[in-house]
Amino acid sequence: MSQITVKGGKPLVGRVDVRGAKNLVTKAMVAALLGDTASELRQVPHISDVEVVSSLLQLHGVKITHDDDGVMTLDPTNVKSARMVDIDAHAGSSRIPILFCGPLLHQLGEAFIPDLGGCHIGDRPIDYHLEVLRKFGAVIEKQPNGIRLSAPDGLKGAKISLPYPSVGATEQVLLTSVRAEGLTELTGAAVEPEIMDLIAILQKMGAIISVDTDRVIRIEGVKALTGYSHSALFDRNEAASWAAAALATGGDILVGGARQQEMMAFLNVYRKVGGAFEIKDDGIRFYHPGGELSPVVIETDVHPGFMTDWQQPLVVALTQATGLSIVHETVYENRFGFTDALVQMGAQIQIYRECLGGNPCRFGQRNFNHSAVISGPTPLKGADIRVPDLRGGFSHMVAALAAEGVSNVTNVQLISRGYEHFLAKLEALGADFTYTE
Ligand code: EPU
Repeated sequence: MSQITVKGGKPLVGRVDVRGAKNLVTKAMVAALLGDTASELRQVPHISDVEVVSSLLQLHGVKITHDDDGVMTLDPTNVKSARMVDIDAHAGSSRIPILFCGPLLHQLGEAFIPDLGGCHIGDRPIDYHLEVLRKFGAVIEKQPNGIRLSAPDGLKGAKISLPYPSVGATEQVLLTSVRAEGLTELTGAAVEPEIMDLIAILQKMGAIISVDTDRVIRIEGVKALTGYSHSALFDRNEAASWAAAALATGGDILVGGARQQEMMAFLNVYRKVGGAFEIKDDGIRFYHPGGELSPVVIETDVHPGFMTDWQQPLVVALTQATGLSIVHETVYENRFGFTDALVQMGAQIQIYRECLGGNPCRFGQRNFNHSAVISGPTPLKGADIRVPDLRGGFSHMVAALAAEGVSNVTNVQLISRGYEHFLAKLEALGADFTYTE
């Protein structure tokens, strides 16, 4: 198991570049399955989630190349059914396989999807996905290690209303409807920038999609799609993570490739906490301008709100703010597990079942520990930590880098699921650490 020994207390200073968003790139790769010709996707990071999706596509006959500059080509002209045992070997490592359903049903008339992996930050059910697929006419059969799908009468456009604007379920609708027969109307859609970028890709392929007001998306199915050529939207979650790392360590990081527009909600909070930023043509510089940090009240939400993935790294910076900060997590019911390690390092964080924000959420009155009160400033001290999940793991690394003394962080390979060249970037920022495989 990989381990990093960190000597903290040193500001992170320098430049890191972010490439395409993990949460777009992996879906864009699946979209390539829908085309009759090859696609080219640029800015594709070398992260393990991309490797998992590549392997799954290759099992289905898609030819893939991915060079050091992040250019990926995906040729789906020989798509075929994969052997169940091979697909099953990928079970447990990612949540993307569920999005293979629509494209495989269109291309092959059947699909086997293994049980899903991904971070343990809540139950993460797939009920919306299955309901959506059934509305299109898919027949779903539960099997011991996953689900088998078929579409005996083909897939037909449908009227769908999501009970919550789920990112994945919206993508499921998009990837299935574009080649389904007739019209699809989706209400209650998620409208994250990554979804807009996926829509742009599908439009390049020949799809007809309109995004109306109030979370309504309409799709007119077409018979065939071609490949696309696209440069992926930057990873705003990675950008926010480095921004939080600059603040927590009293540092100064230029995040190359980051853009203001998709990070507005984050930038507002960053400024309120006392962080400074400078928007440049080629990125955003995030830095601690000196002086005290201020506490804030945050509620995570779907776009255009404050993203749930930004919460964890920022909480580390909030341990250094003077006063009480409140974070109400309304997207996942169980995303504060990472705070145990911060408390062990000296942070004062209390977790509550109550909705401590202005808006009651789906998790109120239901025994979910989904609100946090952070009292600061508290000096952090080094500790032995095991990385629990992707964003929580990054936060632990930030805490270790901000803390006085030495920390041993294990299970760090999990961070490379979503952060490209993580160790090289830390090195470029002047972090003091050693890595053991
Ligand atoms: N939900 C259901 N049933 C479903 C699907 C979702 O109840 O069938 C619930 C979830 O349990 C959750 C909420 O709906 O409480 C929102 O989930 P959503 O479907 O929006 O999330 P996702 O598509 O599984 C993606 C990202 C997450 C990110 C969320 C929210 C990917 C691969 N993952 O997950 O990213 O937090 O959207 O923006 O795109 C990460 O990058 O670390 C990460 C967890």
